[in-house]
Amino acid sequence: MSSVPLPMAPEPEADPVAVSRLQDEVRELAKQRDAIILAHNYQVPEIQDVADYVGDSLGLSQQAAKVENAVIAFCGVHFMAETASILAPDKTVLLPDLDAGCSLADSITAEQLIEWQERFPEAVTVMYVNTTAAVKAVTDYCCTSSNAVAVVEHIVREHGPQTEICFGPDMFLGAYVQKVTGHERMRIWDGECHVHAGIRPDDITRVRGEHPGADFLIHPECGCVTSVMEYVAAGDVDSEGVKMLSTGGMMGYAAKAESEGAPRDVIVATEVGMLYPLRKAAPDINFIPANAEASCRYMKMITLEKLRDSLRDGTGEVKVAADVAERARVPIERMVAINP
Ligand code: 13P
Ligand code: SF4
Repeated sequence: MSSVPLPMAPEPEADPVAVSRLQDEVRELAKQRDAIILAHNYQVPEIQDVADYVGDSLGLSQQAAKVENAVIAFCGVHFMAETASILAPDKTVLLPDLDAGCSLADSITAEQLIEWQERFPEAVTVMYVNTTAAVKAVTDYCCTSSNAVAVVEHIVREHGPQTEICFGPDMFLGAYVQKVTGHERMRIWDGECHVHAGIRPDDITRVRGEHPGADFLIHPECGCVTSVMEYVAAGDVDSEGVKMLSTGGMMGYAAKAESEGAPRDVIVATEVGMLYPLRKAAPDINFIPANAEASCRYMKMITLEKLRDSLRDGTGEVKVAADVAERARVPIERMVAINP
């Protein structure tokens, strides 16, 4: 599957007075509606600041599963809101802009997956959570970037070393998992996220030259993953300073680095929205984007105005049909059981 050249999102400009007024309005409406606001780490700062919980895909799923409020206002993209609806079927899940999609989730349909499975009937299917509910409904295990290695290791342990695995849809994550686990019997779908695939080996070469000795935080969806692993294998980059992490894992790194108190340069290879929570958590660390253009226009579709309107009018409901949700819950719950 070739990469789709989608435009990156422009940086939004925010008037602090208008932002604070809207945030007050949002909080008041959330209270009236008994809503909890969940936000992904790539959301714009003013959304992150108004949210009750900010986290990565796994953390957001775990939160959705235990929510007690009547409404979940989900500030993220469509597949994440679907996952929340699957895990909390009796809650109202609101996505402030229903067009907030995901190029990675679009890279495999349920029909394509079924066709792939028919070619390898013995294989266990592992799909990244960045997939539609319909894809999850025909999947054996889900995984996120924080637990993909653990999920594959679990399958190999449970089903034996000869087990064939159909892994998708992200080819960079798949290649990374295969390399770390050493499991050769993996077939990897050739999908990608347009934002992370756009972070190229050349970006790493350039930014390494500008900041020698910096640590690297790399999201395993990135197009530069293989080259960084090669730098490490060749001894050009110290393996100690290279961390392949989910966005939640990056937050864990920031908390630890801040507590250690050593000022340092850290190169961050992921969507640039991540810089905001990282800098907030560790103000003494110099976080440098590997590619400052890597912005997800889908994540940036969620604005305070849209969140306010959605809470006020109850618009943007995401509801997964009960039969699909029942089947899609199985691979998600298997994943969550591996990472309680
Ligand atoms: P995580 O937050 O799980 O690392 O996922 C990143 C992502 O690309 C979500 O769109
Ligand atoms: Fe999808 Fe990539 Fe945007 Fe994440 S950053 S929501 S994977 S398009």
